[in-house]
Amino acid sequence: MSLTDCNHVVYQVLHCISTIIEVSNKAAINMPFEQQHFWGLVALRQRMFQSCLLLIGFLLCFAPAALSFGIQRDAYHPDCCRRQSIPRNVRTFASQGGKSGDKMATATTDQTLDLPTFDDVVEASNILEGIAHNTPVMTSRTLNDQLNCQAFFKCENFQRMGAFKFRGGYNALSHLTEEQRTCGVLTFSSGNHAQAIALSAQLLGCQATIIMPLDAPKLKVAATQGYGGNVVFYDRYKENRDDIARQIQQESGAVFVPPYDDKYVIAGQGTSAKELLESLVTDHNIQDGLDYLFVCLGGGGLISGCALAADALSPNCKVIGVEPEAGNDAQQSLAKGEIVTIATPPTIADGAQTQYIGKLTFEIIKSKVHSIITVTDQELIDDMKFFGERMKMTVEPTGCLSIAGLRKMVRQGEIPAGSRCGVIISGGNVDLTRYCELISSASS
Ligand SMILES: Cc1ncc(COP(=O)(O)O)c(C=O)c1O
Repeated sequence: MSLTDCNHVVYQVLHCISTIIEVSNKAAINMPFEQQHFWGLVALRQRMFQSCLLLIGFLLCFAPAALSFGIQRDAYHPDCCRRQSIPRNVRTFASQGGKSGDKMATATTDQTLDLPTFDDVVEASNILEGIAHNTPVMTSRTLNDQLNCQAFFKCENFQRMGAFKFRGGYNALSHLTEEQRTCGVLTFSSGNHAQAIALSAQLLGCQATIIMPLDAPKLKVAATQGYGGNVVFYDRYKENRDDIARQIQQESGAVFVPPYDDKYVIAGQGTSAKELLESLVTDHNIQDGLDYLFVCLGGGGLISGCALAADALSPNCKVIGVEPEAGNDAQQSLAKGEIVTIATPPTIADGAQTQYIGKLTFEIIKSKVHSIITVTDQELIDDMKFFGERMKMTVEPTGCLSIAGLRKMVRQGEIPAGSRCGVIISGGNVDLTRYCELISSASS
């Protein structure tokens, strides 16, 4: 019996007692006091009153213990539908050393975390085989000439539902048991993870509830609903999505699928870099991998998975994370050695408006990511225009973080001539009216 069931039973008992008192009061109202005694009404009401007091006393004494038992059991009971509890809003994770800069191969790892490995990425790519697209890897001579390097774009804007998120979402849902799938799934997202979970749930035959901010791009909301997702809106500047998710989870028992801080989500996202590195060998005759891999960063799921793949398949490759300037929480976290929480950043890169990175992603980023850099919104707009004009692709603002990061490092003289640079274009879901507005303010 769950805590909610207990509450229900106690409520029912109290309700019965109060009904009996009310009925006896009504019966007694026109009756002389002696007759009430005769029919036992006075004694009945007294007993009922005493029972109420006893029950309230019992609740006051035992409720805290019952509550803590209930919470512990909810969190760890193996039969429980919940795979992972909703993360707390305040998430300060004390790391043991770790600063921005070189790969920290010696950084200690929190042994209690169930971190994904490259084997999980390989398993995810087997699961996704024939279900997710092996997206194209494209190049641009114009850009290579401009930047004096060889850039390879992994075009996740051509992935199912328009972004890499399908990989992690489908992989995560594939690992649920039949029983868990019957309870349905639940998540929160500003858009792409929402669509990924809605579509994956539809393909795997389960119900998905998605908590989305009121200001999420219309296109992403419509697509999520189109895939059969049940969308619940919230005000991201006033309400706490964790609380809303926790309440829905309590009511429905749905399985919470985190947008980034999950072993199977991370492993699924890593398949994009795995495919990119494999295609260099098969399609471009490049045997010794990449020198750099540029990956955009919100909560860190994509970059963590990609870093696992790069570490295994191209060990000399430096993985560079790129964040919007207004939302550099990951950069701050690396510098401080603990997860830093920021206010919702004002940036057009809605996929990177996260307030904090995850515990798992932070751990992987600390050990496998070379550095994290930031770019401005104007740089993202300029690259949206570049992709549209020169490569004939619609790329959403967040999807332009990685190329903008590459350009910035080239400008700063940090990329040696001729370097092979992988660039993950993470998604292409942007409202076309918004797209036109944005590119009309491009610098050139
Ligand atoms: C297009 C796009 N790129 C990048 C990201 C950031 O991914 P992550 O949270 O795994 O770092 C998101 C997240 O929603 C996204 O939608």
